[in-house]
Amino acid sequence: MSARFANSSRNRVIFVILSHPDAESALAKVNLIVLYRPFHNADPPKLHQLWHMCALGPNAAEGFSCDVFELFACSQPYWDPQGLILAVDEESDRLAGYVHAGFAPNAAESGLDYSKGTICGLMVHPDFRRRGIGRELVGKAEDYLRSCGAKSVVAGGGLERNAFYTGIYGGLDPSGFCTRAAAWPQFFAACGYSPADEILILRRDLIRTKDPVNAKLLRHRRHLNLIITDRPTNESWWWFVRYGHLDSLRFELHEKGTENVVAAGQIIGLDLFIPKWGVRSVGIRQFFVPETQRRHGYAQALLLEICRRLKGESVELVEAHVMPDDQPVLDLLKYGNFDVTDRLLTFRRSL
Ligand SMILES: CC(C)(COP(=O)(O)OP(=O)(O)OC[C@H]1O[C@@H](n2cnc3c(N)ncnc32)[C@H](O)[C@@H]1OP(=O)(O)O)[C@@H](O)C(=O)NCCC(=O)NCCS
Repeated sequence: MSARFANSSRNRVIFVILSHPDAESALAKVNLIVLYRPFHNADPPKLHQLWHMCALGPNAAEGFSCDVFELFACSQPYWDPQGLILAVDEESDRLAGYVHAGFAPNAAESGLDYSKGTICGLMVHPDFRRRGIGRELVGKAEDYLRSCGAKSVVAGGGLERNAFYTGIYGGLDPSGFCTRAAAWPQFFAACGYSPADEILILRRDLIRTKDPVNAKLLRHRRHLNLIITDRPTNESWWWFVRYGHLDSLRFELHEKGTENVVAAGQIIGLDLFIPKWGVRSVGIRQFFVPETQRRHGYAQALLLEICRRLKGESVELVEAHVMPDDQPVLDLLKYGNFDVTDRLLTFRRSL
């Protein structure tokens, strides 16, 4: 039997034990006093260490330095120390967990939309789980978001909507929370959230799979040129703040002798995942074929050409993040021998 008491900045968890088979571990839970406070400049080493102790699942990079953590978690132009809230065990001064709140971009991707809050990161050290700390952190994140004008919050961010951790969480994109790392549906249901989106991760192992043979593709080779550029063209502010620190290339198929682009796509280097996944991998995004050029197999030709060249550069894994209702992209990736390997989840709550 247990009882809990909380106040606004400290959460005193008192377990009243009537009879317990394991008195020692039960005693450890008595009088746990947790201080919730915003980020201080000296916190990154502790946050970096916590990241590596939380078993964040297969879609979290590991083995990177504290500088890298700071770059991807705290260096964005909209970074606000009030939005990263830590839970500290007062007695031992150990970091028990943290939550990181932010905002989605506006429709033009030229700035933030402060009415749309997001919970970008959340973790509790395994020694401190199931003591109400995760739930309390979510409440603190909501208070912060509300104070900035948010009307709703999406935990996990959403596809291309997460303001922090691009490059170190989720693979290509931190577009939701990894289903294999935590009991997210149960946890967020307990926090009053409803399930929102499920984002599919599709991958192709370039070593173990072969390209499909297609006569149409051979014909395309004769009248198309591939142009590869490392200069971002027409990318939004949101793209630069999220992908600007990562390697990227844009691929375009042009009709020979013209400036006509019949298909385009972009790749993002996922080198920070090498220590975790053990292979060089690349994310593929923004596949686009102009309306007038559709149904000619140009996207298929471009996808296979990108994969062929990546294989030549010792890349072993290519991944894409897709919404389950984006049938054209799912069909294209299926054709290119990509399989669904994982799912990322988001949860929503009105504030
Ligand atoms: C998800 C997580 C944050 C929960 O933290 P927590 O402090 O243990 O959560 P709480 O104690 O506040 O749990 C609140 C409620 O959620 C539910 N819940 C939490 N963990 C659960 C689990 N493993 N199984 C079932 N329900 C669970 C319960 O209803 C719980 O209430 P109860 O303990 O009274 O039954 C924690 O498990 C974690 O850090 N996991 C890894 C996080 C991660 O991968 N982050 C990456 C994104 S950046």
